[in-house]
Amino acid sequence: MSMDANEVRQAFVSFFEKRGHHHQASASLIPHDPTLLFTVAGMVPFKAYFTGEQIPPFNRAVSIQKCVRAGGKHNDLDEIGRTSRHFTFFEMMGNFSFGDYFKAEAITWAWEFVVDVLALDPERLWVTVHLSDDEAAEIWVNQVGVPPDRLQRLDEDNYWKMGSTGPCGPCSEIYWDKGPEFGAAGGPKYGDQDRYIEIWNLVFMQFEQQSDGTKSRLPKPSIDTGMGLERTVSVLQGVDSVWETNELRALLETAAGLTSVDLATASDEQKVSLRIVADHARSTSMLVSDGVFPSNEARGYVLRRILRRAVRHSYILGVDSTANAQSTVMGQMVDRVVEIMGPHYPDLVKNAAFIRDVIAREELRFRETLRTGQAILDNEMSKLLTDDSSATSQQLSGATAFLLHDTYGFPLELSEEITNEHGIKVDKDGFRLAMAEQQKRAKDARHEDSTTDSAPLVALLQNHGETHFTGREETESTAEIIYLDDKTVVLNRTPFYAEAGGQIGDTGSILTESAEITVADTRYGVPGLIVHQIGSVSGTPEVGQKVTATIDNQRRELIRRNHTATHLLHSALRTILGDHVKQQGSYVGPDRLRFDFSHYEALSAPQITEIEDYVNAQVLTNAHCNHFETTMEEAQRLGAIAFFGDKYGDVVRVLQAGPNSTELCGGTHVRA
Ligand code: GLY
Repeated sequence: MSMDANEVRQAFVSFFEKRGHHHQASASLIPHDPTLLFTVAGMVPFKAYFTGEQIPPFNRAVSIQKCVRAGGKHNDLDEIGRTSRHFTFFEMMGNFSFGDYFKAEAITWAWEFVVDVLALDPERLWVTVHLSDDEAAEIWVNQVGVPPDRLQRLDEDNYWKMGSTGPCGPCSEIYWDKGPEFGAAGGPKYGDQDRYIEIWNLVFMQFEQQSDGTKSRLPKPSIDTGMGLERTVSVLQGVDSVWETNELRALLETAAGLTSVDLATASDEQKVSLRIVADHARSTSMLVSDGVFPSNEARGYVLRRILRRAVRHSYILGVDSTANAQSTVMGQMVDRVVEIMGPHYPDLVKNAAFIRDVIAREELRFRETLRTGQAILDNEMSKLLTDDSSATSQQLSGATAFLLHDTYGFPLELSEEITNEHGIKVDKDGFRLAMAEQQKRAKDARHEDSTTDSAPLVALLQNHGETHFTGREETESTAEIIYLDDKTVVLNRTPFYAEAGGQIGDTGSILTESAEITVADTRYGVPGLIVHQIGSVSGTPEVGQKVTATIDNQRRELIRRNHTATHLLHSALRTILGDHVKQQGSYVGPDRLRFDFSHYEALSAPQITEIEDYVNAQVLTNAHCNHFETTMEEAQRLGAIAFFGDKYGDVVRVLQAGPNSTELCGGTHVRA
């Protein structure tokens, strides 16, 4: 009996736990990283450990990370259904070393796992290394014993990058030869891609790609590996493609049932459409569960695109787009996804009704725009067809195609398909130009190009450790200056709260025997290191001087009240609107508070009144607020709400603001 997905998951984790790795649970698909749209690999949650911006609490980790590759550098959207190995959503198993072990261990353990634990036939395994990587080649051949003729060297394919910036390095991959019936021989380098399937990528992290195109060395060489769960299972189960593995097969059958296509006799094009429906049902369900909503911006836009693409393919397969609202295809696909994946993803089960609601509504909305878009297209086409200029100039303008795409959710291929039926082409260059302009706007919005030189701060963090924050107990602390330049000052300990979790930074003063510094703002320079922004200086402060650091306490009092109030507001929203409400951001200052949240419709006036009354009632009861440190497990047991994107160490802070609000929070709060 070959191993199933769950047995592989367990075997992977236990193999690396036995070799001293900390098992880290999967992080959210929404990364804690402004340069990425989605979590695209197992290493994403660990990025700051690789770059040295954060001190890792463990130097070896193992994880099974949910990943989405559907936008940005890692985008597999167009491959879905056309290959035997791509998904928009998949699970990546990985082992990681943060400046601990390097190539020799990573390579020998990977081989041991594949050959001894998974029991794959070593005669059918191939490995690749980067052109320049003699060291890895030497380990594979001399230490592991891979025959030199089954090792190949590749260029870009063996160089891994997280994104346009971030950690990167040469990599080495393990491939499985599915056999001659799948195409030409010649190994991964020369043979058929559907025959040689990559199952594991070992990345030797050594550099950080900067936004100006240069690379800097990481503080310590590290290891990041990624092994696709579904691919591995397809190899173990001896099936032709990832679509034949249990979970995907079941989803394909449901999609076939809903669209009345017979899986056994489906044409190649129909199979592609069915796979798109099945794959996209998984990724959209997981994304909504993690708090992404269909919208016209950034990740919400990618979600919308994926969803609409799936819906369109269900229509291509013959689903009636005028059918009643109860029978949305994707709503029913969500039910099946929850049934199949729920056992491994309890959040899916918990959020099931909500996910279904969001996805079904989006399908219905697309039905509307489908009709409007079709009308625009008909209108443009009739203008072009009555125009007597020569037939060769008859093309739909790029701007119209982009408008249809952007506003009406018509993918370019859909416009093309429809216009082609009338002998009209689409100006694809014009479309691409409009698209590039939009992407540039999106990129600017993601601050991809912002560069700050964090090297001196990383060095400080490494020499002094994280700043000791004293501001929960006192408003004035004695401390020592450990860094100073024109704009910033860093102390070994400080009562100043650095902007985080929506709460803005403290202001105040720092006094030395020879100088006075006013602090205009406080931020984290790199995670863990509190940096005071200098407003003005009188005298000559120096590194090493003893200081008295005092915050503007009146201002902090105002901030505290507003911060605790956001928690009451959050609990009011969840009580009145439902548990699906998720915080998307907030502002907590001395002047006011703002709380951003996701909900699928605008609030009604009576709902707003009800929310206000609820919060005011909580304030008036003046219940005790309990703010304490505990373990993540205990916090979960207490039912603490964790915001997406938060990163948790072993010790977390929990705020109980009265009887109805329990959340993780590192901010400062009132006591009652
Ligand atoms: N970070 C390794 C991979 O995604 O393949």
